[in-house]
Amino acid sequence: MTDPEIHKGLAGVVVDTTAISSVNPETNSLLYRGYPVQELAAHCSFEEVAYLLWNGELPGDDDLVAFEALERSLRQLDDRTRRAIDDVPLSAHPMDVIRTAVSQLGGLDATLTHTDGVLDADLNDGRAVYLLAQLPTIVAYDQRRRRGLEPVAPRDDLDYSRNFLWMTFGEIPDDVVVDAFRVSLVLYAEHSFNASTFTARVVASTLSDVYSAVTAAIGALKGPLHGGANEAVMHAFDEIKTADKAEAWLEDALAEKRKIMGFGHRVYKNGDSRVPTMKAALEKLADHYDRQDLLDLYNALEKAMGDRKNIKPNLDYPSGPAYNLMGFDTETFTPLFAAARVAGWTAHVFEQYAANSLIRPLSLYNGPAERHLTR
Ligand code: COA
Repeated sequence: MTDPEIHKGLAGVVVDTTAISSVNPETNSLLYRGYPVQELAAHCSFEEVAYLLWNGELPGDDDLVAFEALERSLRQLDDRTRRAIDDVPLSAHPMDVIRTAVSQLGGLDATLTHTDGVLDADLNDGRAVYLLAQLPTIVAYDQRRRRGLEPVAPRDDLDYSRNFLWMTFGEIPDDVVVDAFRVSLVLYAEHSFNASTFTARVVASTLSDVYSAVTAAIGALKGPLHGGANEAVMHAFDEIKTADKAEAWLEDALAEKRKIMGFGHRVYKNGDSRVPTMKAALEKLADHYDRQDLLDLYNALEKAMGDRKNIKPNLDYPSGPAYNLMGFDTETFTPLFAAARVAGWTAHVFEQYAANSLIRPLSLYNGPAERHLTR
């Protein structure tokens, strides 16, 4: 009998259909429910994009008003969630904090019994909006706690992006900053069967609940080969310091066989469709904050990596320095990604429930042959 073919890392394997987004490396495009992500980033709020991912269509005026009102009403943290966050030591990564908090939200949801937790579509819709509304408050609360600052309560007169920035910094920055932030959220919201989304779908496929699926997805996103890359980009920039040192730094890093974070992609081999939109936002921020030096460093490392390895940046490459310019601490970058991606994760969880098949692949055993105890 010949051995079955192994698809290490599931590379190239199509495991299911999805109507939520399509990543097209040939045309270098990403569509959310058929709409090019660049068009959505140019014209839509993050709330509209989340609604689109969940419902398949952009909201009409009345739908949007109702949806925004619901999201704004769900932003306040429960005291128990505040305490759960405070109990996580500051030595823990912020991704550990949001994973803990989301897990606790599931434990606190009194409506979550085994059957209605999974099968009651109305309750699950509400849970997705709840998670979307809670995550910014959790992320902002933790960011301020790390800076030794008092929390800033959410405001229901602000849209999602402005409120997120308000809760983090205690002020609403200029429109150019708000807009760059909104663009990053739209670009991060969804990306087909990436590692964290697939993780969420695996959990959902056991008919576990949406909080468990999102908790697991946060764990998958934390790794530097996935969401953690946006932080790692900033650490690399901190090491390199100035544009003129980028080439030499890259030579050393490659000689040490280090992966250069923010470059390469499992699906896009000719460049990530989201990068030009986020790079344009980064350029506006660099101009706004008078930080051409950061842009020079960005361009120098991109060029050196292109010349040396012909590997192009992914979305984490421009978003890392963009979040840095906005004033976020580096370790908060991946939680920002999670706050946006929860829209996509939950859309996938519901799609999985709607046509479920337990996800359970096979493996080829290569351990010891059958043997027996001698006692
Ligand atoms: N730095 C250095 N070399 C890289 C690289 C990077 N960022 N990305 C890919 N390569 C090289 C690999 O070393 C490998 O070279 P080899 O054939 O000589 O061994 C080749 O390109 C293929 O890479 P591989 O890791 O097999 O591709 P993959 O599809 O499994 O990996 C990533 C995709 C994203 C995991 C990978 O590009 C990576 O680790 N990037 C850095 C982390 C990152 O930015 N993640 C965010 C993704 S959105």
